[in-house]
Amino acid sequence: MKNYKNVVILDHPLIRHKIALLRDKTTGTKQFRELIEEITTLITFESFKEVKTKTVEIETPLEKCEQKVVVEGSVAIVPILRAGLGMVSGVHTLFPTAKVGHIGMYRDEQTLEPKEYYCKLPDGIEHMQVVLLDPMLATGGSACDAINLLKRRGCKDIKLMNIIGAPEGVEKVAEAHPDVNIYLSTLDRCLNENGYILPGLGDAGDRLFGTK
Ligand code: PRP
Ligand code: URA
Repeated sequence: MKNYKNVVILDHPLIRHKIALLRDKTTGTKQFRELIEEITTLITFESFKEVKTKTVEIETPLEKCEQKVVVEGSVAIVPILRAGLGMVSGVHTLFPTAKVGHIGMYRDEQTLEPKEYYCKLPDGIEHMQVVLLDPMLATGGSACDAINLLKRRGCKDIKLMNIIGAPEGVEKVAEAHPDVNIYLSTLDRCLNENGYILPGLGDAGDRLFGTK
């Protein structure tokens, strides 16, 4: 894959260890959910580096000092349903005041085209830093459509957070939206003929919610 300025692939042994467990087909629903949450928290640490801060005065037991704190109400996270829901609590662990919007999309099994079925976003989202959440970036169709939707709603500062990406999907989003930074914990090999990521982890939504 080409080098894209807007793509950050976190390559860390602790994340790789958790991804290995996530891929394992014998990992059950409870552990799968916990791993998605933990990996999301680790990616959040990197992807929120540019979060808005303000200076406040704090008094320690010894003296007054100026400190930087995050600006509340400045960030919205938007999970793509269903699987993105599994990432919400992982962001809230580090950033409990992030507002949450929801975009519902599913891939048509034949065409692999995303179909939008739900959208509810926080008021004033156009003024916020928005982080779109989805564990899987496969063809990139769902992410591109969700980013287009957010842009139509006036959002100007958008990031995308995924756990696993296929080169096909990363390229599609990186080229269509060079203004959107993409944070991935791992880049996999390719897609199979059914649009599943290899080696991947299977269907993230089904594994999170035990639907198969
Ligand atoms: C999965 C995944 C992404 C999408 C990725 O959702 O969570 O949203 O597929 O594929 P793409 O990059 O080719 O668009 P799915 O459509 O299976 O819906 P679900 O989360 O409800 O299971
Ligand atoms: N959606 C998933 O849940 N898994 C894949 O491998 C591709 C799309």
